Amino acid sequence: MLNFGVLTALFLEVCILTGTANAKTALKAAKKIEQDVSAIDINMGCPKEFSLKGGMGAALLKKPETIKEILTTLVKNVSIPVTCKIRLLPDMEDNIKLVQLIQDTGVSALGIHGRLTEERPRHPNRNHIIKSLTDILHIPVIANGGSKEILHYSDIDKFRESCGASSVMIARAAEWNTSIFRSDGPLPVKDVVKEYIKVALDMDNGFVNTKYCILMMMRSDMDQQEGLDTQDSKGLEELCDIWGMSDYLKKVTMERKAKQDQVDKYLGVKRRKLEDGKYCIEMPIRFYKKDYPVSISPKLKLYEWTKRNHVVKPNYLTTERTQDRCFKCVMELENVCYTSTFWEKSKQLAEQAAAIVGLTVLNEDDGRKPDIESANDDVISVWRREFQDDTIYRHKVGNSGKDGNSNMVASSGDKVDDNKTVTCDISNENCTESNKKKCS
Ligand SMILES: Cc1cc2nc3c(=O)[nH]c(=O)nc-3n(C[C@H](O)[C@H](O)[C@H](O)COP(=O)(O)O)c2cc1C
Repeated sequence: MLNFGVLTALFLEVCILTGTANAKTALKAAKKIEQDVSAIDINMGCPKEFSLKGGMGAALLKKPETIKEILTTLVKNVSIPVTCKIRLLPDMEDNIKLVQLIQDTGVSALGIHGRLTEERPRHPNRNHIIKSLTDILHIPVIANGGSKEILHYSDIDKFRESCGASSVMIARAAEWNTSIFRSDGPLPVKDVVKEYIKVALDMDNGFVNTKYCILMMMRSDMDQQEGLDTQDSKGLEELCDIWGMSDYLKKVTMERKAKQDQVDKYLGVKRRKLEDGKYCIEMPIRFYKKDYPVSISPKLKLYEWTKRNHVVKPNYLTTERTQDRCFKCVMELENVCYTSTFWEKSKQLAEQAAAIVGLTVLNEDDGRKPDIESANDDVISVWRREFQDDTIYRHKVGNSGKDGNSNMVASSGDKVDDNKTVTCDISNENCTESNKKKCS
């Protein structure tokens, strides 16, 4: 279960734990993430001021009608399981009413933290109250609040049993030593810290958060030199030095730089093989309408090019992405596909961008007003410098085999592609004068 601030339990799938104050916004948020997570857990246990002030978290415990409305709305309208997490109320009768109300909304499970809203982690967790509530419910209960009694893997099950629950949610015990989930027993904290630093470096996690997490792990060993030095550390290099991870930092930094250099060098220009065996050339190109005269567009320019070269006109296949309604277009010209890296706000923008990519490869003018600088210029000059002369990237005219000109070859800009056999049929009335000359 991935919670915005902390890893509270390890599931193979991601469940989002989130706060909300009313059914309408809860549903709006749930709909946005419904396709990306396996379950939605509504947090009715957070005692922090920001949650309470916003009417979220534990503030909901005093508003049973709102709880009912939020949960029933979600259960009815989302396609994935909905669960919720509560803290205890001071009065047992109120607890019983609350959990029954929650169960009746149709939620798939209920998480119970055995402390009151105003209690802090130093207060004992009321496992026996969780057990009494579990006994009267028929939905699965997830017991929470037991980190202090979980020092070994086997303690997880002891905690679960003492609460009569079907599973357990763990926050701090996992924060203190992630290897608490190892059935052979936890690893020494210092080893875990080193492994953690590797993950933090691989993920490019910021220094401040990395330091905070290490200090959480070292909490009971803060008298040790590494702990004290970590507390004083001012940057990632120093932190890695303390933990003997400087070589790993160097390796990650070098790999990242090499990757960045590669991206900078080619500015994201790529040639990919598609599932159907065709090639697709992709460039981070955009269509900026203001750069073009009213009556001219890249699509029009490309169409004119196909007419001049007697080839089948381009086919624009545009996909709409459901989550943000953005568009991406793949323009197919003579069995080669051209696309922009970017998703655009409209189908037109996506199609025009794909046409510019095609025209760039064909070395054709895309119709832009003269002397107008564009953000596309860097990409186009990378194309010209790095790719244009490479035969595998060049567009081979006559590749479609659909219009009677399939064997006639002339590369863009009137250059003949060296790699292609030129078997022009001069008798073909559609053949251009320039191609006839090349073949004769
Ligand atoms: C760093 C941290 C962040 C937390 N963030 C949340 C949160 O966003 N929402 C929530 O419901 N509980 C949050 N909790 C509380 C835990 O989910 C859990 O209820 C509490 O820590 C008691 O369980 P434990 O004994 O296993 O730590 C957080 C706990 C910690 C330590």
